[in-house]
Amino acid sequence: MYLKQLIINNYKNLEQVKTDFTRGINCFVGYNGAGKTNLLSAIYYLSACKDYFNLPDSQNILNDNDFFIIDGHFSKQDSESERVYCGVQRDRGKTMSLNGKDYQRLSDHIGYIPLVMITPSDTMVIHTGSEDRRRMLNFMISQFDRSYLNMVIQYNKVIENRNKALKGMRETRQTDELTLEMYDVQLIKYGTAIHKTRKTFMENFIDIFQRYYTLISGNNEKVGLQYNSQLNNGEFETMLKQARTADLTSGYTTVGIHKDDLEFTIDTRAVKKSASQGQQKTFIIAIKLAYYDYSASKTEIKPLLLLDDIFDKLDSIRVSKIVALVSADHFGQIFITDANKVRMENILKDINSDYKIFSVTCGEVQLQYETSTIEK
Ligand SMILES: Nc1ncnc2c1ncn2[C@@H]1O[C@H](COP(=O)(O)OP(=O)(O)OP(=O)(O)O)[C@@H](O)[C@H]1O
Ligand SMILES: [Mg+2]
Repeated sequence: MYLKQLIINNYKNLEQVKTDFTRGINCFVGYNGAGKTNLLSAIYYLSACKDYFNLPDSQNILNDNDFFIIDGHFSKQDSESERVYCGVQRDRGKTMSLNGKDYQRLSDHIGYIPLVMITPSDTMVIHTGSEDRRRMLNFMISQFDRSYLNMVIQYNKVIENRNKALKGMRETRQTDELTLEMYDVQLIKYGTAIHKTRKTFMENFIDIFQRYYTLISGNNEKVGLQYNSQLNNGEFETMLKQARTADLTSGYTTVGIHKDDLEFTIDTRAVKKSASQGQQKTFIIAIKLAYYDYSASKTEIKPLLLLDDIFDKLDSIRVSKIVALVSADHFGQIFITDANKVRMENILKDINSDYKIFSVTCGEVQLQYETSTIEK
C-alpha cells in the first residue's frame, strides 16, 4: 500500500498542493510554520477520517474559505489506483469516499489505509492521566479488532449509567440492588472480555517493543511496559460485590477496566520521573514502531509511516539507527519532516532506498531532489 499522489485544497495553510510520491522515503523540509506537519496530518485524515491533533474539521479549513479537500490516490499491492477522498464544508460537514462511493459510516473506512504516525506531542502520553494511555491502547487494538472498540463503547455506556444510578441512590439513601445487579451483569460481560483482549495484546506486544527499544538505543537499558489492571488480581464479579458499599458511598464505580493503566519503566525506574527527553522520545518511537510491526503482521499490509520532527532531541547515533531501521525492507512507504535540510540530506545519502526531498515554503510544496532509481 502506498500513496502515489496527493491533491489538497484549502487544508490549513495548504491552499493548493498536487504532489507525486515515491513508494520509498518522502521528506518534507522547510522552515518552522511552513506546512510540513500539515502535510502529514492531511495524509492522516485519509486514514483516520479525522485530525491527528483532534481539532474539529472546520478549524482545518484555510482561513475564511468554505471548504477543504484532501484527495489521495493509493496503490494497493500493485493493483489499480484507489482513490480516497475527504471533503469538509464549513456548514455541511464531512464526506469521505472510496473510489467515488461515499461512506455512510466513517467507521467503515477505519483500517482500510493502515497508517502509523509519530509526532513530538506523542510523548505527552507519558505524563498525562491514565485515560490517554487507555486511549492509546484502545486505538492500537481497534485497528484490527472491530468488535473490541464496540465492547469498549458498550462498557463505557454501562459505567456512565451505573454511576448515575449510584449517585441517585446516594442522594435518596435508598439502594436498588436489582438495578445494580443488572448493570453488573453487563459490566462483567464486557469488562472481562476487554481485559482478556488487552492482556493478550500486551503479552505479544512487549517483546517486539523491547526489541525496537534496544535496536534504537543500542544499549542494555531494560525497558518495561506493564499492563496494570485490577482484573489481573481476581474475578471481576467478586470485586464488584466487595466494592458495592464503597461505590454507593462515592457515587462512582471504583473497580473495573476503566481504571486500567500502562506503566512505562527504564531499568525499573518510572519513565515519567527519571528518563531524559531523548529516552522518553525513544520509548514512544519504540512503541509506535513495534505497533507498526504488530499491525503489519496482523493485516499483512505495510502501514504508511509518518515521522514528524522525529530527530529533534535524539543523538546522531539514535537518528541513524532509526533511519536505517525504517528504510529496511519490512517497512513500506515513509514520510518524514525536518526543519533541518542539511541533516536530512546527510542521513538520506547513506541509505539504500528510493527517496524524494520536497521543500515546503509558506504552504507550497516543490520537489527538490529524487533518487535516480527507476520508479516501480
Ligand atoms: N486553518 C488554518 N488556516 C490557515 N493557516 C493555518 C490553519 N491551521 C494552521 N495553519 C497554519 O499552519 C502553520 C503551521 O504549519 P505546520 O505545523 O505544518 O508547520 P511546520 O512546517 O510543521 O513547522 P515546524 O517546523 O515548526 O514544525 C501555522 O503557521 C498555522 O498558522
Ligand atoms: Mg511541524
